[in-house]
Amino acid sequence: MSNISKDLNADQVLVEKNNDQALVNRVNYQAKYIKNVDEFIGKIIDKTVVPIQLEIQPGRESGKKLCWMSCPYCYGGSADNTGTRLDIDKYLSVLDETVNGPHGNIKKIIVAGYATDPLHYEHVSPLIKKIISNKQIIGIHTKLLKIPKDLDNIVKEGDLQKGSYLTISLDAGFPDSYNKTHGLPGSKNVLSKIIENIKIMKSLKINNLNIGATYLVTSANNSDEEIRESIKICNEIGVETLRFSMPQTPRGYTLTEEEDIIIKEKTKEIERIANVVSETKSENCVVSAVDPDKDFKIDKTRYLPCFARFVHPAIGFDGQLYHCSESSSPNFSSMSLGNLQERGFWESYYDYDLEKIKDAFSEMEKNACMCDRKLFIVNQNITESKNFNLLKNHLKI
Ligand SMILES: C[S@@+](CC[C@H](N)C(=O)[O-])C[C@H]1O[C@@H](n2cnc3c(N)ncnc32)[C@H](O)[C@@H]1O
Ligand code: SF4
Repeated sequence: MSNISKDLNADQVLVEKNNDQALVNRVNYQAKYIKNVDEFIGKIIDKTVVPIQLEIQPGRESGKKLCWMSCPYCYGGSADNTGTRLDIDKYLSVLDETVNGPHGNIKKIIVAGYATDPLHYEHVSPLIKKIISNKQIIGIHTKLLKIPKDLDNIVKEGDLQKGSYLTISLDAGFPDSYNKTHGLPGSKNVLSKIIENIKIMKSLKINNLNIGATYLVTSANNSDEEIRESIKICNEIGVETLRFSMPQTPRGYTLTEEEDIIIKEKTKEIERIANVVSETKSENCVVSAVDPDKDFKIDKTRYLPCFARFVHPAIGFDGQLYHCSESSSPNFSSMSLGNLQERGFWESYYDYDLEKIKDAFSEMEKNACMCDRKLFIVNQNITESKNFNLLKNHLKI
């Protein structure tokens, strides 16, 4: 199971910091996404199901490049930028739809990206404002290279729901390796900019907003010294959680022997990092090193049958509604659930015929999609549940 720094005893730190166990569980892949899987299956069959969360992945409208960074480990690195985007007015009305569902509202909206960074999007502030005013839990995943105009006021003045979070993918403890890990040319100290931005967000003291960091371990940022330094930084600036994990090998990525950023021996490497973590003092920050691939036996690219579209659909940067956060670019347009520029959210979401869903499974294999780790676990939970046979009969598989 997850290797939480022995030195600090996660539960004790949580109590002292008045922190939230649910938050640490989410960070460490131990959250139960669906509380009652059998009931959820019944709702899929009745067409009254409501997603546990929706991920939005807005993409910058200007410029040719999809993202402000070119992280060599990025699982979205193979995405094509067709230039198509959802109009901001349409985006806002889609968000309003999510709190006016015929069978209930979506309680949580994740603002993230697949080959994009949400804070690089020109109109991200009104989107975030809308989610907060709609009283949904918000989760933002970003590199925090820049704090968009008005964002500080929007989050400061908004009334955030409990469980909201801002996760910064830090991935480094030293400026040089920060640049290498994120595909940034030159020797500009970008890491210090990120640290400054985290400090600004912390200084706002936003109620109900947990600020955490993630660290994908690569061959460029894995020295003991750097792991210790990153823990020190997070403690100094008041980051509440720091999670080390190994990147998934991106689709279409070929491992080469030399100068490879993705480390092949993932389990051995994360065990080594876990030892460094357990030997490093961390008074303020809950630090963990996790190996979900080993813990949850994630041993294949995708878990079929896949039910991600019911649980955690995603709006891609091109405005299509997709099955999940990792099949959400124009490369997967043949699997789109609907073009939201032209069609409503719920109309697209409920447009399914269980008997034909297996066609999507073959499309997934053809398009070579890859399961996000938490959705792999969700698919596993559904398949292993008591009522799965009921669903299987409807699916005709
Ligand atoms: C795709 S990014 C999008 C949001 C934002 N641009 C960022 O990097 O935080 C979302 C999260 O996925 C992580 N990620 C990217 N490539 C990954 C991979 N190959 N395996 C596991 N996580 C990955 C990033 O580190 C980040 O925490
Ligand atoms: S990991 Fe995030 S910042 Fe890096 S290229 Fe991918 S989407 Fe952009």
